[in-house]
Amino acid sequence: MSIDAQVHADAQETSAACARAILDVFSKKLASGRPHANIAVSGGSTPKLLFAELAKAKFDWTKAHIFWVDERGVPPTDSQSNYKLTKENLLDAAHIPATNIHRIQGELDPHVAAKLYVEDIVKFFGLKPGELPRFDIVHRGMGPDAHTASLFPGEPLIDDRTNIAGAAYVEKFKQWRITLLPGVLMNAERTFMLVCGDDKAEPLEQVLYGPFEPKKYPCQIGVHNGHGVTWFLDKAAARLIQQSKGNASAP
Ligand code: 6PG
Repeated sequence: MSIDAQVHADAQETSAACARAILDVFSKKLASGRPHANIAVSGGSTPKLLFAELAKAKFDWTKAHIFWVDERGVPPTDSQSNYKLTKENLLDAAHIPATNIHRIQGELDPHVAAKLYVEDIVKFFGLKPGELPRFDIVHRGMGPDAHTASLFPGEPLIDDRTNIAGAAYVEKFKQWRITLLPGVLMNAERTFMLVCGDDKAEPLEQVLYGPFEPKKYPCQIGVHNGHGVTWFLDKAAARLIQQSKGNASAP
């Protein structure tokens, strides 16, 4: 399978490249006459650098709507909150209007939070019953266990191709999470995978070149056919695939 991948020296350069790509898509969307662009961002730790790069950019953030790929079942002030990570590194610095911020209410019962998030998405995209949103960009990461969003290996929601978001209990963290579901991830116009670090090298090789087993490698969801997918990798994460299995381009 040929992949559209960029390999950069380190997490900082990789994040900067991903930020440039996001802003390029945003600019093209606005130039085409759209009043705003939209993105669903992920959390964890890698995105901190990405958010800081985006915050530095000269961009009119009143023209962008921010959604989340997933959220932990915690209040927005909790150190584990993906919203908090984004707020502290992008939302505040870029002065993104509250009307453009579509927070998952992690402080609520996870099933209630998922329902409210779906209602927000349905309203924003003007969806009819059964329709799925098509985000301009979905930014995802990948865990060392090949999880993505809050879809961890073995999670039954990995088979859900029809619903927009759901609540998943993550046993390994003893934590409820709210997550976009595979149908939405697969429907993204562009998927930007930002994956850095040596601990991602082995799962990345499996995700890209192993058998299609999304229950085992959830990160294969929405990327295995490669459509609209760009991988932003640092050298450490690309260690096993740069031996020219794919067409991962070095900088
Ligand atoms: C989360 C994220 C999650 C993340 C991976 C990778 O809530 O933790 O949305 O899916 O993308 O855990 O995180 P890192 O890129 O920080 O390793």
